[in-house]
Amino acid sequence: VIIRHQNGSYPVSFVRWSELDELLPDNYVVLTDAEVAALWKLPGKRPVVTIPAGEASKDGATFLQCHSDLAKLGLRRQGGIIAIGGGVVGDLGGFVAATYQRGVGFIQIPTTLLAMVDSSVGGKVAIDLPEGKNLVGAFYPPQAVYVALETLASLSEREYRSGLAEALKYGFIGDPDLLDILKKGHLTESTVARCIAEKQRVVEADEFETLGVRATLNYGHTVGHALEQLTGYADLKHGEAISIGMVVEAELGEFLAVTEPGTADVVREILSEAGLPVDHPLLKSADELIEVMRRDKKGRGTELAFSFLLRIGECKLFNKVDHSRVREFLIGR
Ligand code: GLY
Repeated sequence: VIIRHQNGSYPVSFVRWSELDELLPDNYVVLTDAEVAALWKLPGKRPVVTIPAGEASKDGATFLQCHSDLAKLGLRRQGGIIAIGGGVVGDLGGFVAATYQRGVGFIQIPTTLLAMVDSSVGGKVAIDLPEGKNLVGAFYPPQAVYVALETLASLSEREYRSGLAEALKYGFIGDPDLLDILKKGHLTESTVARCIAEKQRVVEADEFETLGVRATLNYGHTVGHALEQLTGYADLKHGEAISIGMVVEAELGEFLAVTEPGTADVVREILSEAGLPVDHPLLKSADELIEVMRRDKKGRGTELAFSFLLRIGECKLFNKVDHSRVREFLIGR
């Protein structure tokens, strides 16, 4: 697959792990996390910067530490960063690549399902603030994405399911047939490729998320990001938070009469069958949740923004949702 963007294009290729060393430039530094470094033989003899595994590493301190490490390693502008890992490594590594010496090369090697089907494609790179997720970042497309499916075998069941939530999301927002394929079982190259193709369709139509098209990838994320933040990015995996968010946003969409009745039941059933969570005690804290959701990047002014399903297979951004209606829904839930 070739993904086109404003300044060019980049390939997303399926490769074998053993092929990576030959494919990668020699003058790049590898950025990875401690778990990946322990599990996989990193390609070649390139210098390695290792960060602790987990969302907590997507913070300002780790970001600056990576810059210092690269400076100490003597990385030059002609070089670049190879981010090998899940969404945290890709998002952080991409933002470091976008800013180190005002921008160096960047290659993504996603090792989780979530990173393969979502975060490694589309050029969004970011770190979190205590005030919210992904609040500091850039659009910085990689030069290439290499997907080695073998890495999926080392994922914990929980990590795998977390990625499945984002894969199922493509089914809910635009490719309902994918739901049947995913329900049937194990992920193949063609299923992962189908998710990537869906992501490609959306990001090529609206690279900078200004037209409301790319925002549909954020279905489940207004609530999901708020839950992640309120739980300190610790209790919930990203896909778990998004799973809960997709159910709640389908219910809210029905409450506001924009989502076809019955949709939330379908979403809930598919996600619970996939072993994903569909509820959370914090959903009772309406005011706290609304306060955090107000900072969502999709919003305008003080109102709330959600990408609601119109029905299974169709999604649309609503960026002026009255917070008092959302409060009414959450309290009555
Ligand atoms: N992960 C959402 C996006 O790339 O727009």
